[in-house]
Amino acid sequence: MPASPRAVVASPVQMISLRVEEQRLVRIGPYTLPSRVVLAPMAGVTDRPFRVLCRRFGAGLAASEMITADQRLWHTPKSRQRMNHEGEPAPRVVQLTGADPNALAQAARANVALGAEIIDLNMGCPAKKVCGRACGSALLCDESLVARILEAVVRAVDVPVTLKIRTGWDREHRNGVDIARIAESSGVAALAVHGRTRADFYEGVAEYHTIRAIKARVRIPVFANGDIGTPQKAREVLDFTGADGVMIGRASHGAPWIFRAVNAHLREGIETPALQRTELRDIILDHLDALYSFYGEESGVRIARKHLGWYCEQLLGSPAHARRELMGAADTAAQFAHAVKHFDHWASVASAWA
Ligand SMILES: Cc1cc2nc3c(=O)[nH]c(=O)nc-3n(C[C@H](O)[C@H](O)[C@H](O)COP(=O)(O)O)c2cc1C
Repeated sequence: MPASPRAVVASPVQMISLRVEEQRLVRIGPYTLPSRVVLAPMAGVTDRPFRVLCRRFGAGLAASEMITADQRLWHTPKSRQRMNHEGEPAPRVVQLTGADPNALAQAARANVALGAEIIDLNMGCPAKKVCGRACGSALLCDESLVARILEAVVRAVDVPVTLKIRTGWDREHRNGVDIARIAESSGVAALAVHGRTRADFYEGVAEYHTIRAIKARVRIPVFANGDIGTPQKAREVLDFTGADGVMIGRASHGAPWIFRAVNAHLREGIETPALQRTELRDIILDHLDALYSFYGEESGVRIARKHLGWYCEQLLGSPAHARRELMGAADTAAQFAHAVKHFDHWASVASAWA
């Protein structure tokens, strides 16, 4: 029987809610993100295997670990790995760090040639190594340099340029709103704001008032970042700041499935059915496989330790003997065998988890 017109045409109420949903989609240049919950760039964490994993669980975007604008350092295995995006879903985001407008512009152009589809600029990282060279969040105290960098990079590439900042240099100099306005007028396509100042480092709690003030003053999409660790917190921060999306960093450590839960809560106001322990075990073992094949034997076993530590903490409650075996394994075969043993045992005990 043919469907009646009423069955296929949305009611006025449905139309309104569809329109609201439509407005909530975040657009960055030509890209409409599949979700407004994105993974934060994290050096030493957001390598290609982790980005792919988080995207699989619904992260709307996942930027690379930061890459220096100094091309003399690009020959190292570490830099080459950071620029590897094979098999990654679009849009591929490369984060650059540096303080020289020309060097950043050239680095942006080179990364676009290598497959970057969005260039993200790091003015949020407080790490000494970065700030020692007056990069990252150290740039926030020099607004004219910020403008020159942003203009040079936007002019250099024909892909969207995004910016990640903190709320300011220190609590007496919260110039996030000024920086955001400079960014918008320089042609930056979206902004992520960590609700701490550079001087706060990771101390205290993130504040969202400055993010709310920034959102009120610019028209480009704004992602709120800092201490968002649960679906409920994501909802609260979105409601309070009016931001277009949220960015999640540390809460994804050992829990890449957090994006699934946050998406479900934001889209439908529901809790996702829990993942089975056997599914989680398989995700972890697949992650190990991906790390081993991306990094090879020596670095693979070392980098996997960090993720295994987090998975242990999240799921196993970190029993000392399991930790010792997983951390102490000297090669990938032994490490994988220990992971199979411990997570198999854990999966056999009970059913659902996250
Ligand atoms: C291990 C680690 C590495 C980080 N590296 C970067 C980086 O390379 N670039 C950057 O913009 N921010 C970096 N950050 C900051 C995060 O992107 C994020 O702003 C911060 O962790 C706050 O978000 P969260 O509370 O959700 O973790 C890093 C954070 C951590 C914990």
